[in-house]
Amino acid sequence: MPAYEDAAELAAAEETLSNYPPLVFAGEARALKADLADVAAGKAFLLQGGDCAESFAEFHPNNIRDTFRVLLQMAVVLTFAGKLPVVKVGRMAGQFAKPRSSDTETQGGVTLPSYFGDNVNGIEFTPETRRNDPQRMVRAYSQAAATLNLLRAFAGGGYANLRQVHQWTLDFMGRSPWADKFAEVSGRIGEALDFMEACGIDPQTVPQLQGTSFYTSHEALLLPYEQAMARQDSLTGDWYDTSAHMVWIGDRTRFEGSAHVEFARGIGNPLGMKCGPSMEPDALVRLLDVLNPAREAGRMTLISRFGHDKVEAGLPPLIRAVEREGHTVVWSCDPMHGNVVKADSGYKTRPFDRILTEVKGFFAVHRAEGTHAGGIHIEMTGQDVTECTGGAVAITDARLGDRYHTHCDPRLNAAQSLELAFLLAEMLNLEVAERQANAA
Ligand code: PEP
Ligand code: CO
Repeated sequence: MPAYEDAAELAAAEETLSNYPPLVFAGEARALKADLADVAAGKAFLLQGGDCAESFAEFHPNNIRDTFRVLLQMAVVLTFAGKLPVVKVGRMAGQFAKPRSSDTETQGGVTLPSYFGDNVNGIEFTPETRRNDPQRMVRAYSQAAATLNLLRAFAGGGYANLRQVHQWTLDFMGRSPWADKFAEVSGRIGEALDFMEACGIDPQTVPQLQGTSFYTSHEALLLPYEQAMARQDSLTGDWYDTSAHMVWIGDRTRFEGSAHVEFARGIGNPLGMKCGPSMEPDALVRLLDVLNPAREAGRMTLISRFGHDKVEAGLPPLIRAVEREGHTVVWSCDPMHGNVVKADSGYKTRPFDRILTEVKGFFAVHRAEGTHAGGIHIEMTGQDVTECTGGAVAITDARLGDRYHTHCDPRLNAAQSLELAFLLAEMLNLEVAERQANAA
């Protein structure tokens, strides 16, 4: 938690925010909870993705549009492969605050506060920008509001038309050297759309094909902001964090008795919780008892982030503890945060093959345990950045510097994200085969 120098200045910013309109309505958070209950029951899949850290500098309608578009493209591929609806949740419209392992950073003998995200301080290494400024929360709110407004317009205004989304995938693949690899799946999706259209099922006749539901989420790290955005729902009397549909508790703040757990247990939103290698099964169960005492399905999404070489050993004990205690959760895989390496060039990166290995391990564990591999949680962007190495258009260490724009962790670019969806499709096919065999 960042320390602010001036308590009165902080209180003034909180007061401003608490008088602003909520960004989401409690009923929408409940709708997401119901969708996530379907995921927990094995009847849907969760796709959560977006920036590691949104920034004031990268705020541009094209960036929002492109990330949204890639998420929809991924969702179409996953829906087709998994034969299940895909619940789409952006790490967008509020993902500003970043936990840091060290409070300070030293460069050339100068020590300044670490960068905590654009809603706390600035990334530039000067004493002025590194000062924690409460007014940044107000600016972050405005950016979140404008972002959400555009996302709502895209989702409902005809941009997210199913036929259109598939056409983008074809256009995109047409330009990529790896298109052949996935041509079969995309061809089959096209045929399915043709067949539906011949039967009279198209965006003109079925309004659901014209739009989509899209939710927002971020880490509820900066409690002054989250608390100022909490509102009492007039329909139920319950409190909701109206800064996003879903918020999650990060791996560094999800310990018993933390302020973040205390805040999260008081709000009605669906909650995520990161589970890294240091999460003990018994502690996890106690946290679930605190965060979901009513054992509501869809309330809890457990986002495992072990690392490619730790997931197969680390995840089963957590799954078994949760099953033993009869908690219902969504299991989602974050293959990003356990797979950060430092490239020779000095850049922080994530090799695509390690990301894929963790996802494969996650699916293998769930198959063995008889539980539903419910979703993925990724850091990605619709831009053509060079931040993660590998992928079909192999980004090398030497090329990381070309377009390394992230304000925090390295993200998958548009091509790598779509490639991951196609590779995931292969794993979902196995799940579908198993489901059909069990049903027979
Ligand atoms: C994140 O999601 O950006 C993050 C910091 O993750 P974690 O809490 O799992 O380290
Ligand atoms: Co991150």
